[in-house]
Amino acid sequence: LNTPHIPVLLDEVLSFVDFSESGIMIDMTAGFGGHSIEVLQKSKLDLICNDKDIKALDFSKNRLNDFKNRVSFINKTFSEVIKELEVDNLKIILADIGVSSYQLDEEYRGFSFNSDSLDMRMDDRNELNAKYVVNNYSITELEDIFKNYGEVRDYKRMAFAICEYRKDKQIESAKELSQIVARNTRKFSKLNPATLIFQAIRIEVNDELGELKKLLDNIESVSPKGTRVILISFHSLEDRIIKNKFKQWIKKCICDESVMRCECGNNHQKGKILTKKPLVANDKEIKNNPRSRSAKLRAFEFNA
Ligand SMILES: C[S@@+](CC[C@H](N)C(=O)[O-])C[C@H]1O[C@@H](n2cnc3c(N)ncnc32)[C@H](O)[C@@H]1O
Repeated sequence: LNTPHIPVLLDEVLSFVDFSESGIMIDMTAGFGGHSIEVLQKSKLDLICNDKDIKALDFSKNRLNDFKNRVSFINKTFSEVIKELEVDNLKIILADIGVSSYQLDEEYRGFSFNSDSLDMRMDDRNELNAKYVVNNYSITELEDIFKNYGEVRDYKRMAFAICEYRKDKQIESAKELSQIVARNTRKFSKLNPATLIFQAIRIEVNDELGELKKLLDNIESVSPKGTRVILISFHSLEDRIIKNKFKQWIKKCICDESVMRCECGNNHQKGKILTKKPLVANDKEIKNNPRSRSAKLRAFEFNA
């Protein structure tokens, strides 16, 4: 099978898999099965493969057919999955979050700057799409998402430019949107000026940060035993959320800051951080797959 997506940090992911153990791994973002197939080939684990994109999941089903006795499939958002499953012997939770190369490359989804559509949904069931956001959000709402999700310096100017443009006509395509952004960009930078604007809209449309926060909260609420959590993210906003959650998970004391002396027993550490610093792609991987450039992997192990 020709795969439309190269898995990132594959060796690094595999370094957290114990090939001799049995149990379950949930791949929250199975995508094209790139990580899953390697785990199935090399270990004894059974897999639950989830993805909210039905097309990606169908591809994975086909690709993992040789292992069908060891895999089941779910088509949901990852924040929902963990708390709905009752899994004994859950060894690994893997989430390689973000957009697959296939989604980025598929014209009709409107993720790329030259696309004739403007959609950006990873899941067709999602009600919100990019066209709605750029044509209906108020100027302050646009400013907020550009500032918070894109860290766009000129966020006010961009929001204003979009609102001025749409007074005359609807913005119909990603191409049209990137032209508006380009015309209103002041500084020359190596990055295509639309990159951060598109990132911000994509995060809004797919509720990417909300999904990640809910995933982490839900993992915590089911108190997994001995489970390793492996998370790969692609921008600093996500990495920060993960880093902070891990820090919270290793806190021994959970007393309110206002108390003078610890009253909680000082034994609330949930496990240990397995990656002091996030793991990143080496030069060889970046050369072979430039999209791995921004990937960061962090891993955590819950107490047994
Ligand atoms: C980077 S790709 C994963 C690629 C996969 N690891 C592989 O090697 O083939 C990310 C996948 O996560 C899915 N995804 C993103 N956010 C999701 C969410 N909140 N719930 C479920 N799936 C999600 C996307 O649809 C996409 O297929």
